[in-house]
Amino acid sequence: MAKLRATHSRNPGAGVMPDLLSPLSLQGLTLRNRIVMPPMWSGQATPDGLVTPAIIEYHRRRAAAGCGLIIVEHAFVHLRGRHTATQIGVHSDVAIEGLTRLAAAIKREGAVACLQISHAGSHGSSRVIGARPLAPSAIRHPNEPDGDVPEAVSLAMIPAVIAAFADAAVRAQIAGFQAVEIHAAHGFLLSQFLSPLTNRRDDEYGGPVDHRSRLHLEVLREVRRRLPREIAVFVRLGAHDEMPGGLEIDDACWTAARLAEAGAALIDVSGGLQGSRGVGKGPAYFVPYAQAIRSAVQVPVMVTGGLGEPDLANRAVREGWADLIGVGRAMLNDPDWALKAIAHLSMVRRPG
Ligand SMILES: Cc1cc2nc3c(=O)[nH]c(=O)nc-3n(C[C@H](O)[C@H](O)[C@H](O)COP(=O)(O)O)c2cc1C
Repeated sequence: MAKLRATHSRNPGAGVMPDLLSPLSLQGLTLRNRIVMPPMWSGQATPDGLVTPAIIEYHRRRAAAGCGLIIVEHAFVHLRGRHTATQIGVHSDVAIEGLTRLAAAIKREGAVACLQISHAGSHGSSRVIGARPLAPSAIRHPNEPDGDVPEAVSLAMIPAVIAAFADAAVRAQIAGFQAVEIHAAHGFLLSQFLSPLTNRRDDEYGGPVDHRSRLHLEVLREVRRRLPREIAVFVRLGAHDEMPGGLEIDDACWTAARLAEAGAALIDVSGGLQGSRGVGKGPAYFVPYAQAIRSAVQVPVMVTGGLGEPDLANRAVREGWADLIGVGRAMLNDPDWALKAIAHLSMVRRPG
C-alpha cells in the first residue's frame, strides 16, 4: 500500500471523529453513512439507451443493503458521446421515464440517488455512434490503439457540448435524482481535455492547466446555473494519468480547487487516462491522490479504488484520507457488501 498520512477529519456539524458509518451532510442532503456504490456500467440498457428492470434491480439491491449514496452508472449526455451500445442515456426526454423509476427505487431504500453524466469523447467508437468521435485534438486515444482518429471539437462546437451536459443534468433532476456527477475521469472527454497527452490545442482550451480545465468549469457552471440549489453537483476527477507527459497531481489539485470554488459539492477522486482499476496495484491505490486533493479543497472528497475491505474503508474515513468511500468491484461481486460491513463495523464500534 502507498504511504498514507493521517489528516484532520472533515465532518461538518459533528463533534466526534467520523467513521464509515457516520452520516454526512452534503449541501442539504443527508447521507446515512459514508458508504458509496460508485458508478458501475452494467451493460443492461436497451439499444436505445433506456433503463431496464435489471438496471433498476442492480442499483436498488445495493441501496437496500445500506449504502448512503448510489451513483448510478454513467449515462451519455449526447449520442456522439456514447461509450457502448449497452449504456444508458440521458440524452433525450424519452429517457426520463425509466430514469424516474430508477431514482425512485434507490430513494425508497433510503439511499441518496445521484446520476453520473458522461461524454466519452475519443473513448467512444464510430461503430457505436455512427460518426467520428469527438476529442480535444485529432489524436487517437492512448488506450484505444485500434480506435478512430477523433474529430477535434471546434470552438463553434463547445457551446453544444456544454448544453448537452446541462440538458442532461436537468433531465436527471426531473427524473428525481438528488445529485448529478459530471464524469471527468478515466480518459473520457473532460479527462482528455485536462491531459496534456490528448489535448494539443493552441486556443484557450489548450496549453496551461487553466486552459485545459476551462471546459470543466464551463460545464460545471452551466449545470449549476440550470439546476435548483437543492440538487448537488459532484465531479469525478481523474487525478493523474500515470503516463509520461500526462496529467500530474498538482494540476489536478489546482483544477479541483477551482471546481470546488465554482460550486462542486464533492470531488470524487479517481484516475485519469490510466482508468479506474489500478491494475497491478495494492489496496487503497488512489488514496494518496485523494489526500492531496483534500488538502486543496474545502468540500468533501470521495475516493474509490481497492477499498473493498471494510476495516480499511473505515480507516480511510477515521484517518481523514477521504470523507466518502466508493466500493466498486467488491460490491459488484457481493450486493450485500454494505449490509455485512455495517454489521461488522457496528460490532467493532460497540464498547467492550
Ligand atoms: C464493471 C465496471 C464498470 C464501471 N463503470 C464505471 C462508470 O460507469 N463510471 C465510472 O466513473 N467508473 C466506472 N467504473 C469504475 C468504478 O466506479 C471504480 O472506480 C473502480 O471499479 C475501482 O474501484 P474498486 O477497486 O472498488 O473496484 C467501473 C468499474 C467496473 C468494475
